[in-house]
Amino acid sequence: MENPIYLDHNATTPVDRRVLEKMLPYFCVVYGNAASIDHLHGNKAKQAVDEARQTIAKVLGCRKESEIVFTSGATESNNLALIGAFRRFRDKGNHIISSAIEHPAVLDTLNYLQSEGAEITLIPVDSNGVVDLVTLKKAIKKDTILISVMFANNEIGTIQPIKEIGALAKSKGIIFHTDAAQALGHEKISVYEMNIDLLSFSAHKFYGPKGVGGLFVRSYSPLIKLSPISFGGGHEKGMRSGTLNVPGIVGMAESLLLANKEMKEENSRLREAANLIFQLLQQSFPDIKRNGHPQNRLAHNLSLTIPSVEAKALIHRLKNKLSFSTGSACSTIKVEPSHVLKAIGLSDDETFQTIRLGLGRSTGDAQTIADILLDGISHVR
Ligand SMILES: Cc1ncc(COP(=O)(O)O)c(C=O)c1O
Repeated sequence: MENPIYLDHNATTPVDRRVLEKMLPYFCVVYGNAASIDHLHGNKAKQAVDEARQTIAKVLGCRKESEIVFTSGATESNNLALIGAFRRFRDKGNHIISSAIEHPAVLDTLNYLQSEGAEITLIPVDSNGVVDLVTLKKAIKKDTILISVMFANNEIGTIQPIKEIGALAKSKGIIFHTDAAQALGHEKISVYEMNIDLLSFSAHKFYGPKGVGGLFVRSYSPLIKLSPISFGGGHEKGMRSGTLNVPGIVGMAESLLLANKEMKEENSRLREAANLIFQLLQQSFPDIKRNGHPQNRLAHNLSLTIPSVEAKALIHRLKNKLSFSTGSACSTIKVEPSHVLKAIGLSDDETFQTIRLGLGRSTGDAQTIADILLDGISHVR
């Protein structure tokens, strides 16, 4: 039996073979601890980490490479950004604004922060999943210390007006964090141009390894220092203790370089494929709806609501041919309706009739995918 076509690139991507090649020497040859700089083994590892930091900082448009803090992924980066900023700036205020469609790595962290005294306001989104700037502006109070709005949504692909939100935050002296786990490597991001103070990312979303990521922490106008949320050897300027994952960090830098270089071509190919799949499905089933913003969106995400088709039944029916998911595959299995789909106005029933196709480098012919889906839909309906 052939492997099913992988259509879950919003959940994770395979490691690019070129990235793997670059990582391999750092397991068994250059295996020193990057913090053991008294000897050559450690120095070589540190050099590799320094180079990776420079690469990532350059791609992100940082002022200094030291603005990149390595973590285990976007979940940890979001925790560090939100908890670290709250504890650091708590004396200035306790109010945090975020959006209703954030990933659980943000929403659950904000929920936790309430127990430390934070007051949280979640801004609603419109039917395309876009945060309303007027509502956001109105929500700002004199004790607002932090705004956190994701760059692009993991379920419906909508990209937020990040530069404008950043400008608003800047004008009020509020720290702006964005969870860019879905966007980095897929969209051009320049942290200073976009008025971003803190930005979270994960390598496995752009063909790098799992379990490694980072947080951009602005060092200039304003200089931001975060309170650490874990304690130990004082690595990463005291913001994130723990021995660095050298192979992972090397792989993350290489995968980001490649993703950025190939982004334009890849995005136009995937945008075309997503549009074609949708059109072909709609020709047979005109009531199928596409979710998310029609233009400001991730090219590789296709969220579809198929009336009268239980998403789980369709996934099960096609499991030997296609690997795709319902709503969000980023969290452990939940039976509640997706908070993102609810926030854009879908009914409970519609949320359970929604599938997410995450296209990617290995995604082949759109017609083949559409044919498989059409066959599945006609059987499940
Ligand atoms: C928007 C967003 N934020 C955060 C995460 C968490 O990333 P990780 O599981 O790599 O920590 C994900 C994906 O799972 C995501 O899509």
